[in-house]
Amino acid sequence: MSRQRAKLVVGNWKMHGRIKENAALLSEVAVGASALQKSVGVGVCVPCPYLAQSQALLSGSVVRWGVQDVSAHEKGAFTGEVAAEMAADFGVTYAIVGHSERRAYHRESPELVAAKALRAIDAGLTPIVCVGETLEQREAGSTEEVVGTQLEAVLLALTEEQAASIVVAYEPVWAIGTGKSATAQQAQDVHAFVRAKLAEKGASVANVPLLYGGSVKPENAHELFGQQDIDGGLIGGASLKSEDFLAICQAALAEVQ
Ligand code: 13P
Repeated sequence: MSRQRAKLVVGNWKMHGRIKENAALLSEVAVGASALQKSVGVGVCVPCPYLAQSQALLSGSVVRWGVQDVSAHEKGAFTGEVAAEMAADFGVTYAIVGHSERRAYHRESPELVAAKALRAIDAGLTPIVCVGETLEQREAGSTEEVVGTQLEAVLLALTEEQAASIVVAYEPVWAIGTGKSATAQQAQDVHAFVRAKLAEKGASVANVPLLYGGSVKPENAHELFGQQDIDGGLIGGASLKSEDFLAICQAALAEVQ
């Protein structure tokens, strides 16, 4: 049984969605989530063009919405980028930063990710800071070194109070979109390491929500969420189907009770 900390389940739609399909998905998630108790928070991080739609359909529901990235800059000549303040204009709660797809395809460094986390906080958003190792790094025995470096850059950029307001998501790169989740024990081991690193920053930081991401499905959510240091999940593929996403939210509820 996990410790009695509230759970959080956030969907990362990545580059999926169309306005018509979103309407059904968002409405179904809003209805399904209303049956959950307050002990489970639910969020969806959508592509920016759908922020207004998300705001319109989710306002007044228990579901919060977010973005999948923010610029490290406040404003200016940065074609194609979206400022955290702009996302805030649409009532956004969460901003994913440092997703492994951005670290890999856009060469985002730990320092850039840290700057984005700070920018999100300054705009009143909650950054969901993603960390995680590749298969090669895991096999070389450097998981803790990689995750530690990614996390330290963010903690260095934030005050203790700011650090206490973030969410961290451990997403092993080899488990993302592969259908092959980390085992509950593998995930718990890294979460315990992350928790200890956060505790070094301050007692209040040790309690930030730690999400696991990487092939979370209704079938494996219970076991993952039952681990001592796993406070919920960051869900990719399964967040695109309301039935699966809500089943994962129900698994979180079962583990918090
Ligand atoms: P999948 O759930 O599709 O493996 O994606 C995980 C993820 O990257 C969430 O941010």
